[in-house]
Amino acid sequence: MDEPAQAIHGILIHSVSPTQVQILADTLIILSASGIITHIEQNIPTSQVADFLAGKRIEHARQTILLPGQFIIPGFVDTHNHAPQWMQRGLGQGMHILDWLDGITFPNEAKFADASHAEKVYEKLVRGMLRQGVTTASYYGSLHGEATNVLASTCLGKGQRALIGKCNMNRNSPFFYCETSAEESISATKSCIQHIRTIDPKSTLLKPVLTPRFAISCTAELLQSLGNMARDDPSLAIQTHFNEAQQEIDATLSLFPEFNNEADLYSSFGLLTPNTILAHCTIMTEYEIQELHDLKCGVAHCPTANMTVGGGFMAAPVKEFLRRGINVGLGTDSGGGYSSSMLNAMRHALITSYARDALYPTFEQAKEIGIGGGKGGGREALSLEEIFYMATQGGAKVVGLDHKVGEFALGKEFDALVIDLRDERSGVNVPLDEDDSPLRMLEKFIMTGDDRNIVNVYVKGRLVHGE
Ligand code: GUN
Ligand code: FE
Repeated sequence: MDEPAQAIHGILIHSVSPTQVQILADTLIILSASGIITHIEQNIPTSQVADFLAGKRIEHARQTILLPGQFIIPGFVDTHNHAPQWMQRGLGQGMHILDWLDGITFPNEAKFADASHAEKVYEKLVRGMLRQGVTTASYYGSLHGEATNVLASTCLGKGQRALIGKCNMNRNSPFFYCETSAEESISATKSCIQHIRTIDPKSTLLKPVLTPRFAISCTAELLQSLGNMARDDPSLAIQTHFNEAQQEIDATLSLFPEFNNEADLYSSFGLLTPNTILAHCTIMTEYEIQELHDLKCGVAHCPTANMTVGGGFMAAPVKEFLRRGINVGLGTDSGGGYSSSMLNAMRHALITSYARDALYPTFEQAKEIGIGGGKGGGREALSLEEIFYMATQGGAKVVGLDHKVGEFALGKEFDALVIDLRDERSGVNVPLDEDDSPLRMLEKFIMTGDDRNIVNVYVKGRLVHGE
């Protein structure tokens, strides 16, 4: 039976909408043995926790009482991460996307043909992501089935929630890192899905995701076969790169001259669905924004990568996505951005939104490059609430896991971070004042904290980092 197993008391902070953060002060949260939230009781002072648990006859539950300067937030959801790029982060900043793929990324990813290399790197990756508070990640593997199976097993073993996709790529890639046919790619993809469903049959933590790298590296036959798989099994998520940079868009449309834009291209293969996660979405026309909205696709906004690798400084129209009700989460992009920190992704989302606001001061100018002009008046600027939302609940929606995680609610699974801003505990110089409100503490953590302030990380109630 799923008995109450843990009780945690303190300040809980989560998003209840893109613009609203809710503070649950003096709150007792009770979890079942399998990590489901069974009670959320507000206004229980620390001194009454023991009595409350005794009254419910669950005094044997493991108790954690947070101290002043500590609080709990939902775990971060990284909606776009290339697992094999863990080792190449920081290399090739400023390069255009196709040059960066050829020069840096493909030679690095090719090394994952050796499953023992994958074991070493993925062990470090998952440990490193968990300590930075990423409780859920949507991973692109390399093109290798065996290495991708290692990634899935590593996430399951270490307790990270993850979408796992073997990368599909059968053209326009170097001979040493390219699948030889659509059939080979599909058959390896099916084996990976089988592996994931064998090791985690109830999908407690793992979910398979179809991962055509992007249209440049996939033949029409391969894209169509993946679209057919998605049609036949709606539980499969889909992820790909979308309108990342001009160099990439030009190359894509020259390979598929029958299309005027990427939305029509991917949707013609059945790859734009409510289960689709589209990374980047920087250069967007009005038509394509409307298509993403109508087809209910999610956006993985990768601000760090968009400013450092790809092709110039790209400030995606995120505020416009949110205004239209499109689901948006944040992605670190691993090698594409130099940082795997979701805190950096949040900060960069804020800064690029300010830049978009300043760079495109009239709506007419903005229309020339895409939608959503700012008039420099803050129309394009994101708020603290919005970046926090995108890193947690927005991301959960994008990866199709909001029925399980992203906020604290009865029946949901407890994926959470204990944040500690006390100097003596973390040794980190977050400028904490004794009278800071919970919202101020959150703001200071997001803008000045780092992984040393993330002292405990829980996935499905299991402590996966910390003591
Ligand atoms: N487009 C195709 N592959 C990649 C990749 O690995 N990173 C980024 N940023 N864009 C891509
Ligand atoms: Fe990427």
